[in-house]
Amino acid sequence: MQNQAKKPIGVFDSGYGGLTVLKEIEKQLPDYDYLYLGDNARAPYGTRSFETVYEYTLQCVKKLFDMGCPLVILACNTASAKALRNIQQKDLPLIAPEKRVLGVIRPTTEVVGKYSKTGHIGVLGTTGTITSNSYPIEIAKFYPNMVVHQEACPMWVPIVENNEIESDASDIFIRKNLENLLSKDKNIDTIILGCTHYPLLMTKIKQHLPDTIKLVSQGEIVAESLVEYLKRHDELEQKCTKGGSIDFFTTDSSENFDSAASMFYGKPVKSSHLEL
Ligand code: DGL
Repeated sequence: MQNQAKKPIGVFDSGYGGLTVLKEIEKQLPDYDYLYLGDNARAPYGTRSFETVYEYTLQCVKKLFDMGCPLVILACNTASAKALRNIQQKDLPLIAPEKRVLGVIRPTTEVVGKYSKTGHIGVLGTTGTITSNSYPIEIAKFYPNMVVHQEACPMWVPIVENNEIESDASDIFIRKNLENLLSKDKNIDTIILGCTHYPLLMTKIKQHLPDTIKLVSQGEIVAESLVEYLKRHDELEQKCTKGGSIDFFTTDSSENFDSAASMFYGKPVKSSHLEL
């Protein structure tokens, strides 16, 4: 069980993808304690219904609260798209009004205008994220004149999770989805990687795109936004302990987690199994 004196920042994902975000958060905010939770036993979330993603995410957020986290980052676009609003508006006031849960979609949409000259944006994500329309809705709040086109890439997460990144199958699906997206609008000059797994496919994606198109991945953006958030929310910031520790938990086998997790995190990972 977690040391109760420790009040880590919780970072949650359906599986491994959130590690690409944690890696960047840790670079910019190395002093805090962190607790990473991957719900690998029930991943992927990307093809699941709204109700299921909400139920699973809420359960994991509650667990992270029980383990002492005053703040939880949903480092998963699918969970941010399908569960965040309900958790923030319905659940938090009842279960933990003093705690906070943040997602990855809003910080990304807030800054996307910096990258695009044409104002035409492409978004790639899981089926759940794309059908939720969260990206076009959030982008319109900050940039009402932007044109947004989306493409669901249901095969990309399994390709990454099964370490098929260098395979021919990976080329086939990446090419197909990028062609689909670009055929919707020739003026797209910026593409958001709206899934925390996709940075692992960056090299492959670039091979199938003209150099003129910018790819936006979220890790750094989310980390910068968290830095600013903690500056603005002093009371919450004071509650997060600063011991520089990172504890990893998975709802599936920790052995399986550790061998794949290092690929996402860029360093060896030693996790513990967690029963929800
Ligand atoms: N990493 C998740 C995201 O950012 C998707 C993975 C999954 O489908 O569970 O959307």
